[in-house]
Amino acid sequence: NELTIFSPATVANISCGFDVLGCCLDGIGDEMTIRKIPQKGIRISKITGMDLPLETENNVAGVAGLALLKKLKEDINFGFEIEIVKKIKPGSGIGSSAASAAGAVFAINHLLDKPFTELELIDFAREGERLACGFPITDNVAPALLGGFTLVKHDEPQKILKLPVLKDLFIVILHPQIEIKTSEARAILPIQVDLNLAVKQWANVGAFVHALHTQDELLFAASLHDYIVEPHRSKLIPGFEEIKDTALEQGALGCGISGSGPSIFSFCKGIQSAQNVKDKLEKIYRSKNIPFQIHISKINPVGI
Ligand code: HSE
Repeated sequence: NELTIFSPATVANISCGFDVLGCCLDGIGDEMTIRKIPQKGIRISKITGMDLPLETENNVAGVAGLALLKKLKEDINFGFEIEIVKKIKPGSGIGSSAASAAGAVFAINHLLDKPFTELELIDFAREGERLACGFPITDNVAPALLGGFTLVKHDEPQKILKLPVLKDLFIVILHPQIEIKTSEARAILPIQVDLNLAVKQWANVGAFVHALHTQDELLFAASLHDYIVEPHRSKLIPGFEEIKDTALEQGALGCGISGSGPSIFSFCKGIQSAQNVKDKLEKIYRSKNIPFQIHISKINPVGI
């Protein structure tokens, strides 16, 4: 009647795959406890770690949970209470709202003996994202629920493809402690894109997917360029260009903006390479007088 889960942080976009690609991180995430209660509906009883709304309709976990309950075929005479130990800061770019929304629907589904598929859960969790940023974005909730690398195919209904993981891959996440609202980071993007840039970008997405299937590290690295979104959003992140140049010089396979920022991810092959990149980035960012956190993570292959 009660379940405690770890709901992971995620990296969306992954350079070339704006709104399409995502991956799940290991060891960075929130803790959530969900239990059945006699009152119907969803109640957010406690959030520790961050100051977030407790009203169900204003809370991403609450809204995602309600979306699930609405689709139940049979009426139930109980409800759910959610407690969140929030560790992922909202506005950090590593899927804070997605972790809460995905965690809520995963646990509720489990406590109801799994009436819904993973794809249906992703759809409910997207409603939390709609509340958080105005768009029902899928590229964080999909890897949070499925793990590994995911690709969102934007059909109606959406399809989610789970991609293989490159062996021995580590991610360094540098999180400058400034907040970037996804809605604002979306508002600065151009509505139309140059066809020549679009051609390069979709070639990169194809190459990225092929690289994962063939375990081609060089192609993986070569595909991690964003011609369309990063040039606009990087201006919101102090020191981005220097960090990216340094990470690549130190041997990172790729470096880019995590989600809508400000977190910056660097993919590295092997723990030693990740440690070198981390040490160097830490040194550089210390001189910027902006508080930050830096972590090394692996890819979580299974999600919640
Ligand atoms: N793909 C989204 C964006 C992810 O970059 O706006 C943010 O949650």
